[in-house]
Amino acid sequence: MQISYKLTDVSCVLTCLMLFVAAARSQVLTEDFYSKTCPNLFNIVRKEIRTAIKNEMRMAASLLRLHFHDCFVNGCDASVLLDGNDGEKFAAPNLNSARGFEVVDTIKTAVESACSGIVSCADILAIAARDSVLLCGGPSWKVLLGRRDGLVSNQAGANVSLPSPFESLDEITAKFIAVGLNITDVVSLSGSHTIGLSRCSSFSNRLSNFSGTGAPDSTLDSTLASELQAACPANSDGNNTVPLDRNSRDLFDNHYFSNLLNGRGILQSDQSLYSGDAAVSTTRNLVQLYSNNSAIFFRDFVNSMIRMGNISPLTGSNGQIRKNCRVVNQ
Ligand code: HEM
Ligand SMILES: *[C@@H]1O[C@H](CO)[C@@H](O)[C@H](O)[C@H]1NC(C)=O
Ligand SMILES: *[C@@H]1O[C@H](CO)[C@@H](O)[C@H](O)[C@H]1NC(C)=O
Ligand SMILES: *[C@@H]1O[C@H](CO)[C@@H](O)[C@H](O)[C@H]1NC(C)=O
Ligand SMILES: *[C@@H]1O[C@H](CO)[C@@H](O)[C@H](O)[C@H]1NC(C)=O
Ligand SMILES: *[C@@H]1O[C@H](CO)[C@@H](O)[C@H](O)[C@H]1NC(C)=O
Repeated sequence: MQISYKLTDVSCVLTCLMLFVAAARSQVLTEDFYSKTCPNLFNIVRKEIRTAIKNEMRMAASLLRLHFHDCFVNGCDASVLLDGNDGEKFAAPNLNSARGFEVVDTIKTAVESACSGIVSCADILAIAARDSVLLCGGPSWKVLLGRRDGLVSNQAGANVSLPSPFESLDEITAKFIAVGLNITDVVSLSGSHTIGLSRCSSFSNRLSNFSGTGAPDSTLDSTLASELQAACPANSDGNNTVPLDRNSRDLFDNHYFSNLLNGRGILQSDQSLYSGDAAVSTTRNLVQLYSNNSAIFFRDFVNSMIRMGNISPLTGSNGQIRKNCRVVNQ
């Protein structure tokens, strides 16, 4: 944009002021935010992620999910990492489910010893999510940085703002729209379920007498229904786990979408992108497109991850750079 006014120009008074306010307000994250203050940041995080997933491949999925659960509640401000019984960790979507906190601690310790008090926990989550996807065979992207850490964890917000696997596509889409994302983001980011695991309790309602029908969810492939019934016996406590993509649980690929074409989505919310009444042409067509073309899935996924990472970041002098990701600085 060209600014043609001279500073002495009368009309500049208002225009320049507006530009000033816009610049102060617009939350501009940049790729090179730490290039001078913590030049080795990307290498440090990558090394720790490699170690973590060598130890347990699922950790890649868990770290990707943490960034999502962070960004949807109070923006990407590491609020999900704060300890405390009344915090987000104990909100319904996270309880006995969100994981990876110890790995984040390990990364933070390594980063602090190289550049103390410089890098936010929120930015570490964003880099960890990118590296996790990449190291599972998925796409890479330039992570934008400069987020600061929040001062509060919002359990009530996590209870209401995070999507549930039992909600309809309309309800889930509304939660994405509430944070500035759209239905393309719903479909592309759901592709994250190409890696990682789900507990039986997140889908066992589909396995028998679904919604009082006396039968399993009719959109669930019957062979898969039997396999899941075996993995989730009725007398078990719901904590057994199964891969969200049974073809390649540790590989970030587009198989999640071809599963949906075959009634092989694990969560009701997954299958609803293709099968439900509300699976409007938009989501159905995208599922088909992504299942046919992993390059387009990767392209859209990357754009959506960047958009998600931009949800209401704290910048400037807002928030703080936590020393320990679990507690607000004293
Ligand atoms: C569209 C709405 C979404 C719903 C309803 C949903 C729901 C779920 C549920 C219920 C689980 C299993 C949790 C458990 O049983 O412990 C799960 C796992 C997972 N979700 Fe989502 N999710 C959604 C979107 C996303 C997004 C946007 C991402 C990332 C950008 C994501 C990444 C993951 C990953 C990677 C896992 C596996 C985690 C692990 O193995 O530790 N999900 N999700
Ligand atoms: C969040 O949900 C959990 C589980 O349903 C509930 O125990 C807790 O009280 C809720 N927290 C808030 C602050 O609403
Ligand atoms: C969602 O937003 C992205 C980025 O602005 C845009 O490219 C895409 O077309 C939007 N999707 C829909 C369905 O409007
Ligand atoms: C299924 O659930 C409905 C309502 O929830 C109940 O009335 C019915 O008895 C159940 N059927 C079976 C076979 O359990
Ligand atoms: C799963 O395990 C946790 C902790 O180990 C336990 O508190 C919880 O009750 C179990 N979940 C269910 C659905 O029983
Ligand atoms: C995907 O490929 C199938 C078979 O090649 C084709 O029938 C379908 O139209 C394609 N869908 C899209 C959205 O490209």
